Amino acid sequence: MKSVRYLLWLILIPSFLRAQKFTGLAMTPPMGWNSWNTFQTNINDSLVRGIADVMVSSGMKDAGYQYLVLDDGWMSMERDSLTGNLVPDPRKFPNGLKSLIDYVHARGLKFGLYNCAGTKTCAGYPGTRGYEYQDARFYASLGIDYLKFDWCYTDSLNAQEAYTTMSKAIRVAGKPIVFSLCEWGTHRPWLWAANVGDLWRTTGDIGPVFDGYIDHGNWKQGGLMLIVDQQEGLQKYAGPDHWNDPDMLEVGNGMTVPEDRAHFSLWCMLAAPLIAGNDLRSMTADTRKILTNKEAISIDQDPAGMEGYRFSRSADSVELYVRPLVNGDWAVCFLNRSHSPRKVTFDWKNQVITDTLFNRTLDAQNTTYRVTNVWTGRQSDTRKPLSETVASHDVLLLKLSK
Ligand code: GLA
Repeated sequence: MKSVRYLLWLILIPSFLRAQKFTGLAMTPPMGWNSWNTFQTNINDSLVRGIADVMVSSGMKDAGYQYLVLDDGWMSMERDSLTGNLVPDPRKFPNGLKSLIDYVHARGLKFGLYNCAGTKTCAGYPGTRGYEYQDARFYASLGIDYLKFDWCYTDSLNAQEAYTTMSKAIRVAGKPIVFSLCEWGTHRPWLWAANVGDLWRTTGDIGPVFDGYIDHGNWKQGGLMLIVDQQEGLQKYAGPDHWNDPDMLEVGNGMTVPEDRAHFSLWCMLAAPLIAGNDLRSMTADTRKILTNKEAISIDQDPAGMEGYRFSRSADSVELYVRPLVNGDWAVCFLNRSHSPRKVTFDWKNQVITDTLFNRTLDAQNTTYRVTNVWTGRQSDTRKPLSETVASHDVLLLKLSK
């Protein structure tokens, strides 16, 4: 009897209440720009308009970057005392958010905001706890396209429940919004978030260093290698519409050009969301070239959505990352983690690369692949063994096509 009643409920509850997230919004990893890594809470109307303009004029939009996301710091310290709604800070956004969002949309871009599952955001602004449905309606009324949802001031909240509640609230509010979970991997979201959101952070915050931490006392930013090492074992949880997020990009934020190149290449190998975090208005030609490299981006955005992984590591600190691509193509990336140049050799015909998770083999014995060096454009093929020198903290990123 009980199960019949349960079945009846299932049929009667409208599908939009049952289903959690809006599906199909992130069939490839989201690409965009976020204010946090450079500006923290120092954001305002003219900055956003300037970034929107330069996303178009610099070629970022054409390269695939579409979301412009305002991180922490866009709100006033208090909710509206009558309605309980969130209030954009009138000093930073004197025209409110609607006209700003229209401005961004008019440039063919999409717009995102940040909030937090706890009582406050990490920077101390009003959090969403207890206001999930109201805030989701507020975002829908603004017409935003992306929500990053953080995990500060959550006390004893259950992460899966809290993020599921917000996901349902977005769904009920009716405006399709990419839902980005930012609980730093603490509650292993890869195990439960595929139907809740579109991407989930796998680690704490990134910082613009290759190795080690930047220590701020009560919080730390992790360097590239710390973050990359924490992706081990997560490959199987990602795919179209649900991505591991090793955090936003620090390209152009103070590392060397080889380090920025290594950063970007590894994020592409990992099918990571590509959310730039530098001041696009003053980026150097080198930074722009890295962020807009078509071949690298085509690896990241490969429609098959199979995440790459570390295939091997050598005693001299060279690591090999591989990623199977659509139509039997491959991306292959040699990373030199050491402090001096390294000679890299690989005999395509005799050293077999197999991805056991996706059951793919790079079979250079029976197939000749065309090899494109993503950063120099140089072409070769797999008939001859590879032999190249890779500079310290740099990569050799190759795309192998049949
Ligand atoms: C956390 C997040 C960051 C950023 C800040 C904002 O640390 O992980 O990405 O959103 O909060 O306060």
